[in-house]
Parts: sequence; structure tokens; C-alpha cells
Amino acid sequence: MKKIAILASGSGSNAENIANYFKESDYAQVSFIIANNPEAYVLERAKRLGIESAVVSKSEFMEADNVISMLKERDIDFIVLAGFLLLVPQKLIAAYPGRIVNIHPALLPKHGGKGMYGDRVHKAVVECGDTESGITIHIIDEHYDKGTTCFQAKCPVLPTDTPDDVAAKVHALEYEHFPHVIDEILHNLD
Ligand code: GAR
Repeated sequence: MKKIAILASGSGSNAENIANYFKESDYAQVSFIIANNPEAYVLERAKRLGIESAVVSKSEFMEADNVISMLKERDIDFIVLAGFLLLVPQKLIAAYPGRIVNIHPALLPKHGGKGMYGDRVHKAVVECGDTESGITIHIIDEHYDKGTTCFQAKCPVLPTDTPDDVAAKVHALEYEHFPHVIDEILHNLD
């Protein structure tokens, strides 16, 4: 059984969706959730799902050694960033080469980079008058929103759409595709 850890900073609706998807799997499971914010709602979800969770401070995360030990002690094979807002340090990437996937709520390379997350991204899409948005799932490197793209899906953006409307469409794409893409990546790992 492959073991997945999810890193999240906020609500964790993707984390819950992914955990529920893999509950049905005899191949992989979400066995650990790390949040960098003790107030993050994802911790409530973890409790409800019966998944072990931990909170790490920003400095502890950036230093990486303790986080790597926590992951290795639990035999974690793969890491999913689901609404995780800190830049992943090189040490952690080196400990999990090609095994950390992120989802970005836009069509990278548009609307990515430091400070571009969640609603800020949807606001930028509307302000730019874009006619489409979507999701990008990528294996991360040490830069914000770079790395190797594995999957993109698009949705239309209408001239009347508010950032909340765009967010709803993008979340729907995330829930539909992210678990399947993770599943496929896991099957291609070894
Ligand atoms: C998701 O839309 C995810 O794509 C985005 O944060 C949201 C988290 O929602 N991630 C980023 O913006 C990363 N740059 P959730 O906590 O409900 O899953």
C-alpha cells in the first residue's frame, strides 16, 4: 500500500476529497496530513476522517529535517500539496525527488508565482479579462509554480463571471481530476 501525505494551509476541501477517493483504493491511502497553520480547517477534516495530522511552523518547515523525519518514520511514499502556501525547501524535494505534486488553480504559466494563491488567482483572471481558466497539476521544483506539468483542465470564464464564480468552476475541476491524476502518477512511479 502506497502512503500519501497531504500538506495544506487552509480549508482542505481538496485534501478531504483526495482522502475519500483513496478510501476505496487497495493501492494507496492518505495516511498523514501536515498543516503549517494551527487554525487551518484541514485539521478538523483530518480528525473527522480519522487521519493522523501534525502542525509545523514555517521555520520548522523551511528547515525541513524534522518534517523529513516525520514523513520517513511513517513510510510516506508520496506528497500532495493541496492548497499549501509555503515554498517547499530543496532538502525536502531532494528527499522526495519527483514525488511531490501540487495543484494550482489557474492555467500555468499564467497567474502563478509567489503570492498567487486561492482567490487572488481568480481575481487576477477576471481583472485580465481572460476567457478561460482551469487547473494545473505539476511535479514541483524549488520555484513557486514551476516544475513539470502533468495535467491541465480548462473551464470557460464569462464576461459576467465574478472571482467567486471562477473559483466554483475551478474547484469543480479540482475535485473531478486531482485524485485521478495522483492515482495515475502513483501507478507510474515504480
Ligand atoms: C485550491 O483551489 C488550490 O488549487 C489552491 O488553494 C485552494 C485550496 O482549497 N492552491 C493554490 O492557490 C496554490 N498556489 P482547499 O483548501 O479547499 O483545498
